[in-house]
Amino acid sequence: MITGRRTLMKAVRIHAFGHSDVLMYEDAPRPVPGPDEVLVKVQACGVNPIDWKIREGYLEPRAPHRLPLTLGWDVAGTVEESGSLVKRFRKDDAVFCRPDTSRNGGYAEYITVRTTELAPAPRTIPLEQAAGIPLASQAAWMALFEVAGLLPGQTVLIHGASGGLGTFAVQLAKAAGARVIGTTSGKNAAMVKSLGADEIIDHTKEDFSMSVKGVDVVFDTIGGETQAKSWDILRKGGVLVSSVGADEKAAAAHGVLGRSFVLVSNGARLGEIAALVDAGRLGVVVEKVFPLAEAKAAQDLSQAGHARGKIILKVS
Ligand SMILES: NC(=O)c1ccc[n+]([C@@H]2O[C@H](COP(=O)([O-])OP(=O)(O)OC[C@H]3O[C@@H](n4cnc5c(N)ncnc54)[C@H](OP(=O)(O)O)[C@@H]3O)[C@@H](O)[C@H]2O)c1
Repeated sequence: MITGRRTLMKAVRIHAFGHSDVLMYEDAPRPVPGPDEVLVKVQACGVNPIDWKIREGYLEPRAPHRLPLTLGWDVAGTVEESGSLVKRFRKDDAVFCRPDTSRNGGYAEYITVRTTELAPAPRTIPLEQAAGIPLASQAAWMALFEVAGLLPGQTVLIHGASGGLGTFAVQLAKAAGARVIGTTSGKNAAMVKSLGADEIIDHTKEDFSMSVKGVDVVFDTIGGETQAKSWDILRKGGVLVSSVGADEKAAAAHGVLGRSFVLVSNGARLGEIAALVDAGRLGVVVEKVFPLAEAKAAQDLSQAGHARGKIILKVS
């Protein structure tokens, strides 16, 4: 639709921070790519905990956003238009990315993204599934290899092994030659095992800190008591990397390392991840696909904290 000189698109935006009732499915201006940007026609958008955390306003003190804001930072689609400096991507190329979370996201028919964040989408899976990959897989990759320095033959314990980060972390660690222990609830044990975990601990029935000792790396996607109990299961000098923030003082008191990280999206890294998907070495577990107009239900499911793999919004 065109009104005046602005072309409109459907998007899910917020005009105020708060509960999921603030999500509005509405018309919004279609963005225009800058010289080094691409306009992506969104096929599908992954839903992640950061979406509801930003919606609730938790990140505003550190990283303020301008309202109205389109949520959703996990995108797969096709190139619609390229900026004047863009050489690597052409119209109709299938692409995916984790866009900059300080800008408008992908709960929309179109999004503009920088080419440095973009990679060709995997060829062997539908774009609808590919939309679940960029954010969680890159966070798992960054945590395991770039922050914790996980090596072949080492043992890693992954907390939240059935979640978005966990399902990728289990597969990536296994593909890298590590021994993998995953914590999850019993209903997800078979799924996590099928991703390559060597051992599963049901966090609803067992206290992992009673049975595990001497691991090289812990990947903590849960925090709180789970993190507090993890220091003692590491070998001396081992490292806990947390996606929700590590207590570095507690780590030092236990003679281990505690590391936090904030995902920096990187198209080259994402390209390597796409290659693993196309080689059949990495897959995406999809919990549920919702239409774009049902973003509220999708976020409520994510916020409940028990997603099994990824939640996806189908846009077109
Ligand atoms: N630092 C960064 O750059 C970064 C990047 C990405 C994500 N994050 C953060 O990392 C966290 C995890 O993200 P995510 O996408 O993986 O979340 P998610 O998909 O919502 O995680 C849900 C999973 O957590 C599991 N779980 C819940 N409580 C558990 C417990 N006590 N022990 C073991 N597993 C438990 C659930 O399994 P059951 O239902 O079986 O219990 C469920 O499968 C979020 O807080 C997110 O915001 C940070």
